[in-house]
Amino acid sequence: MSPIPSSENLSVTLRETRSFSPSEDFVSKATIKATGYGQLIQAATADPEAYWANAAEELTWFKPWDKILNWNPPQSEWFIGGKINASFNCLDRHLTTRARKAALVWEGEPGEVITWTYSELHFQVELLTTALRKLGLKPGDRVAIYMPMILEATVAMLACARGGFTHTVIFGGFNAEALKDRINDAQARVVLTGDGGYRKGSWIDLRTQTDKAVAACPTVEHVISIQRKLAGQLRGATVQDSPEPTPGRVAHALLHDWHALLHTVTPSDRRAMGGPEPLDSEHPLFILYTSGTTGKPKGIVHSTGGYLTGVLRTTQQVFDLKDEDLYWCTADIGWITGHSYLVYGPLAAGASLFIYEGAPNHPTPDRIWAMIERHRISVLYTAPTAIRSFMRLGIELPRSRDMSSLRLLGTVGEPINPEAWMWYRENVGSGRCPIVDTYWQTETGAIVISPIPGALATKPGSATRPLPGYDVDVVDKQGNPVPAGSGGYLVIRKPWPSMARTIHGDPERFKKAYFSDFENGVYFTGDGARKDNDGYIWCLGRVDDVLNVSGHRLGTMEIESALVAHPKVAEAAVVGRPDEIKGQAIVAFITLKAVAANEVSGNPGALAALKKELQQHVTHEIGALARPDDLRFADALPKTRSGKILRRLLRELAAGGQISGDVTTLEDLTVLATLQKDEEE
Ligand code: WT7
Repeated sequence: MSPIPSSENLSVTLRETRSFSPSEDFVSKATIKATGYGQLIQAATADPEAYWANAAEELTWFKPWDKILNWNPPQSEWFIGGKINASFNCLDRHLTTRARKAALVWEGEPGEVITWTYSELHFQVELLTTALRKLGLKPGDRVAIYMPMILEATVAMLACARGGFTHTVIFGGFNAEALKDRINDAQARVVLTGDGGYRKGSWIDLRTQTDKAVAACPTVEHVISIQRKLAGQLRGATVQDSPEPTPGRVAHALLHDWHALLHTVTPSDRRAMGGPEPLDSEHPLFILYTSGTTGKPKGIVHSTGGYLTGVLRTTQQVFDLKDEDLYWCTADIGWITGHSYLVYGPLAAGASLFIYEGAPNHPTPDRIWAMIERHRISVLYTAPTAIRSFMRLGIELPRSRDMSSLRLLGTVGEPINPEAWMWYRENVGSGRCPIVDTYWQTETGAIVISPIPGALATKPGSATRPLPGYDVDVVDKQGNPVPAGSGGYLVIRKPWPSMARTIHGDPERFKKAYFSDFENGVYFTGDGARKDNDGYIWCLGRVDDVLNVSGHRLGTMEIESALVAHPKVAEAAVVGRPDEIKGQAIVAFITLKAVAANEVSGNPGALAALKKELQQHVTHEIGALARPDDLRFADALPKTRSGKILRRLLRELAAGGQISGDVTTLEDLTVLATLQKDEEE
């Protein structure tokens, strides 16, 4: 465990400015009022199991549970004996009252808009579940989803949930190598994908990546790919006209055209095979890969009943969604935010969601505000990084649009600096929309710390207080609560229903990563935090070797492994440096193999070319999101006598030192090591 970061060292300085009471914000529809908040917290604290059982009762269960909780740290089981289906709860149960209500309103970057009602979404999901069952898929089989942000991506997730096929969504920004590793770790039988997507006016090709990956994934039997370009040409064709599916191949796997495959599903097939599978509450709904401190990403496993309970309850409390809302979460489905608050939570709540595929600043920098105006979006949930980059473009852009439809603003993914918070409040929310800064993680499944709008005063830069039902604390190394005003480690003492169940295929790592720093089954988030005098929590960021770049979690070791896989690289150490927009930027310190070092030493041109080559190499191995911003070449890396790289020293160098563009020769960093104490952090 690293020392607790101080807020002064953060790229976004978190200092207390002022607070905003609920009455200062215009919250006409708040369900939970300040007066009820205290009682709610009290009741949930007194009996968390009863609190969560009450939340679970808002879902539809095929069979009620016999017992609320089994807790053998680190193993939790919730709603034991209960039978449930996530897709049923997101779709079927709304059909009596919301069949013709918009479930998804989608806008593509080129400008087209498609709206699907709950009834249409349900139909599409039934078709795909039937098709997957006809291919022989059984509950518990894994399906990889590698798709652009189109309506069918939601269909893919819900169709898997319907059949009990555990999905693993892989972010479309990952490339073939990263895709292959995740498919193989999950041992997926099917890959749901597409030919590509739109971003910043370009076509982003996914199929080439899929084809490359699948060739090295022996468990994959079927690839089902949506042909958007072809579908565009076929628009208007009737079902009878469409071609018979002639599956091709991707290496050893059968390749199916998505639409052609769905056209083989007859109405009687669908009636017989399209229904929701009654699943155990603990049935693994999905695996989602996230970065840890080793080179290998962790396949975080989430349950069905507990997960859905957590996301539905928090969706209702934090976003306070009403039937007339149009809610927009800008996250990609490849991340946990896209799972919990773009699919499962809002659909379980019966909400109307807006989905956008493309860049929020394309073709004009005010695209995001134009869409809020055009669609009359009422709740916006986005990342501080996005807010900071919009700040740079000036207040005229949001101010020149009619955004009176907005009533609530949310942020997630990284600490938000008070300046960005205030900008968001004043210029996007016109000073009348409450801001919910939501702290949580892939592992927590659902929001843990957040204001309940209408009930709790907010402070710019703090996610405020834990939601009811979570036993959150800030503790010292021994696990004792720190006094108000102090910093410490952010932990959760008691289990909660949407907590991760394990790391796929590696229960030992699950225990070690989250339950070994403190005793008695206390969960460690990996974050440092400060508790202020009002008991508000200020998250100060990771205390492990995990970076947060534009709200994306990246393991330094993952990037290092990619770099040392390059034939010219001997050693690599990756650290973060504060970045005004992205939160953190990626800096790689590199030592080269002798031949390569000779080639570039004293040759700025060659050094610059190599820098580019290595950046491209990381993009190729992982994806553009992991591309180092700076590369610094050294004769040797500063190490302790026992050979550990002095990361803290590198972090300081990265933060203060010159940027790589100015470096024309190899740096000598070894001398610096002698100035440091021998033990590493
Ligand atoms: C890490 C989790 C949860 C969805 C997106 C990220 C940081 C998250 C906040 C916030 C300060 C935050 C933490 C956490 N983080 N939300 N509101 N304030 N920090 O999910 O990729 O699992 O990353 O993001 O450091 O540990 P993730």
